[in-house]
Amino acid sequence: MKKMIVTGGAGFIGSAFVRYQLESYPEVHIVNFDKLTYAGNLENIKDCDPERHTFIQGDIADRKAIQAAMEGCDAIVNFAADTHVDRSIMGATDFIETNCTGVYNICEAARELGTSHVLLVSTDEVYGSIREGSFTEKDAPGPRNPYSASKAGGELIALAHFETFGTPIIITRGSNTYGPYQYPEKVMPLFITNLLDGEQVPLYQGGEHNVRDWLWVYDHASGIDTALRQGEPGQIYNVAGGHERENIVLTRKLLELCGKDESSIRLVKDRPGHDFRYSIDASKLKALGWMPTMDWETGVAKTATWYRENEAWWRPIKSGEFKEYYRKQYENR
Ligand code: NAD
Ligand code: TYD
Repeated sequence: MKKMIVTGGAGFIGSAFVRYQLESYPEVHIVNFDKLTYAGNLENIKDCDPERHTFIQGDIADRKAIQAAMEGCDAIVNFAADTHVDRSIMGATDFIETNCTGVYNICEAARELGTSHVLLVSTDEVYGSIREGSFTEKDAPGPRNPYSASKAGGELIALAHFETFGTPIIITRGSNTYGPYQYPEKVMPLFITNLLDGEQVPLYQGGEHNVRDWLWVYDHASGIDTALRQGEPGQIYNVAGGHERENIVLTRKLLELCGKDESSIRLVKDRPGHDFRYSIDASKLKALGWMPTMDWETGVAKTATWYRENEAWWRPIKSGEFKEYYRKQYENR
């Protein structure tokens, strides 16, 4: 793979994947195609060598634009998505446009151009919630919120494309990802930056014992890379962190790391349809040679330290568009 287009490469995981490719494969040139929504940020990719990294602002829901950008690339890895569950509950039009129509456009363009590798980054949330045990790739999707339903919709469109036209689609389903450069609407950076500002953290009441499986962002990047290079078209690969924690356990860990006590917790009304537990089995990807490297305590501490040391990155975000979102989301709850 010499020329790879990464869509959504100015976001949290996409930018980590771009850095990972540039560091791991000296022959690779990256075309980074991103709409720069509220979640896209050129600061995330400012250190990428311009000789090996070309940025294009564009929308995957714009068929002509994405096809033109894909021309001459032998691989596409799609991260572009609307990604936040709480925003999808406020309104899911953009989610359906990007996560379904955008994915369809990528499949169609790949078919027309004969792109040899097409990897679509998806999420463990498409399986829905599981009380005990872990989902494998053989389990049927059962999404329970507008975000995960739109991701499952995109996946089904793409898998049908593989069956019908032979488009070489590979799908990865990652678990909750954490680390540097994550937009502070997600629980970990939201809680850390609130605590650094001496504010309370809005923990969903009734969801304190809900469980998420935490995956270090560079382990997620290497998992996607393994599926891309070693995986088989038409296949799905789970990428699990292997570190399941209750939300209250995560919250207490963040309080400790930021030198705060439980008076910094504000219990707020629960998320409607809040999924209780996500858990996936990553044996299939591990059989291709992938292993996560980060232990949870170290990863969470590194993340807290990164936000402490990079206020210049998150301060403009929190005092910009995010402020109005935060007010709408948490006021009177
Ligand atoms: P993010 O919200 O940080 O970034 C999304 C990026 O996509 C942004 O740069 C945004 O500008 C871009 N984008 C949005 N709509 C676009 C469009 N129509 N055209 C082009 N670019 C567009 O997201 P993230 O957390 O980095 O997630 C990346 C991918 O990984 C998503 O597909 C998500 O579903 C999946 N995923 C995320 C997690 C997680 O915990 N964050 C876990 C598993 C899977
Ligand atoms: P989030 O980071 O939004 O990821 P997802 O919903 O995609 O798993 O949330 C992770 C967990 O944290 C989830 O169980 C909801 C909970 N949470 C809160 O308690 N308060 C918050 O303000 C947020 C954003 C999440």
